[in-house]
Amino acid sequence: MKIDINNILKNSVIENNITISGWVRTKRCSTNICFIVINDGSTINNLQCVVDLKCINNNIIDQINTGTSVELKGNLVKSLGNVQNVELKVCEISILGQAIDFPIQPKNHSYEFLRDIAHLRFRTNTFNAVFRIRSHISFAIHEFFQKRNFIYLHTPIITNTDAEGAGELFTVTSLDITKQKNIDFNDDFFGNKTSLTVSGQLEAETGIFGLGKVYTFGPTFRAENSNTTRHLAEFWMVEPEMAFYNLHDDIKLAEEFLKYIISSTLEICKNEIEFLDNKYQKEKNTSLKEKLNNVINNDFQKVTYTEAVEILKSSPENTTGKFKFKITDWGVDLQSEHEKYLTDIYFKKPVVVTDYPEEIKAFYMRMNDDNKTVAAMDILFPGIGEIIGGSQREERLDRILNVMKKRNMNIESINWYIDTRRFGSVIHSGFGLGLDRLVQFITGMDNIRDVIPFPRYPKHCEF
Ligand code: 4AD
Ligand code: MG
Repeated sequence: MKIDINNILKNSVIENNITISGWVRTKRCSTNICFIVINDGSTINNLQCVVDLKCINNNIIDQINTGTSVELKGNLVKSLGNVQNVELKVCEISILGQAIDFPIQPKNHSYEFLRDIAHLRFRTNTFNAVFRIRSHISFAIHEFFQKRNFIYLHTPIITNTDAEGAGELFTVTSLDITKQKNIDFNDDFFGNKTSLTVSGQLEAETGIFGLGKVYTFGPTFRAENSNTTRHLAEFWMVEPEMAFYNLHDDIKLAEEFLKYIISSTLEICKNEIEFLDNKYQKEKNTSLKEKLNNVINNDFQKVTYTEAVEILKSSPENTTGKFKFKITDWGVDLQSEHEKYLTDIYFKKPVVVTDYPEEIKAFYMRMNDDNKTVAAMDILFPGIGEIIGGSQREERLDRILNVMKKRNMNIESINWYIDTRRFGSVIHSGFGLGLDRLVQFITGMDNIRDVIPFPRYPKHCEF
């Protein structure tokens, strides 16, 4: 019987004549007996296999080292050691693939080193746990929205609009631009200038006019030269968009959503969280699980941008010049140090900042009655900063056209979007969650590059 290690350990299976395949993590031999620890990828946990050296050819044992892939036949027995309930008494060993000069003990290498060696990362306990959790979070995201009758809408990866208007676009072209001086995008594959998407929001907004509530979930691309621990050039974003929701409904949904994902991960990924928590406690002297439970069990703090600026202005960090960017005036954008102050020092919990000045936000956000601020919300998480950005959208045709004119935007090119405000416009809202930042928060990893299997960032696009 072929069986995976997850199954064996979860159900404490005791059976004879079973076959398992996997990779050797460690081998420890004495005169008569050898302990080989195997992982087959089905769980973060390993299976201890005991080899009686009187029965198995020494030649084979000599070929086994860390990383070797093997097939083992034998009997599962109750383990005398107390780490696991069962172990495999091995009767037969076949080597599937040797691993001569295997470049790890993985735990001895830095995350930076492992980032450059694609296969090695996946063989470490840490990345094993992180990518299992990332997979579960992705599943739970679909589960949350599907349960609430949202339609999963696939928005395009290649597009001709810059939804956020920040100009951080990766151009997509089939022209040989190395040979051409003056590029005419009329000659290009699509007959116009196209790029990788920075957000599926505008397309999602058109979707709600027939589907009511939709969400997108896919890769997003931004050519922003931010060499930080929370920026990627290719990241994954979830963008729900809801007809008839105002900003208040939007915030409520976002808070419920984040709490749901974290609870579900704590419940389903117990082993992985346990493993990462041990590491977290050693490195940071505080508990990962406690941090996650704090988010689930407390209301997020709500403040307006204006209130946040007042708090920041009179903070000791600001008055003693500790902030790199001193807050002096209303209207400036909040930097990550300011967000960090609000979440980590002042409120010590997730913070929802609302009603930002119009000038520092995207064109599609709804103008408030004060004619100065827009119905925007950013959710800031301790240690991470902004994890969600969202807003109520400007549904009034004259207003949105005015903003676009003021910003010198080409209205003609996004008439397909403006049409939603011409024909049966309704109030609506949505938000974008950076998946990678949420995975970072839940796993407690320091660098966002270590929560995505193949990270892309400035000067780095391997594999
Ligand atoms: O705040 P952003 O730019 O909002 C939008 O794109 C809207 N269209 C969302 C919407 O309302 N539908 O991005 C949303 C989130 C951020 O809060 C952040 O978590 C993540 O996307 N994000 C990044 N994550 C990793 N690397 C980057 N370079 C990111 N840029 C944004
Ligand atoms: Mg934002």
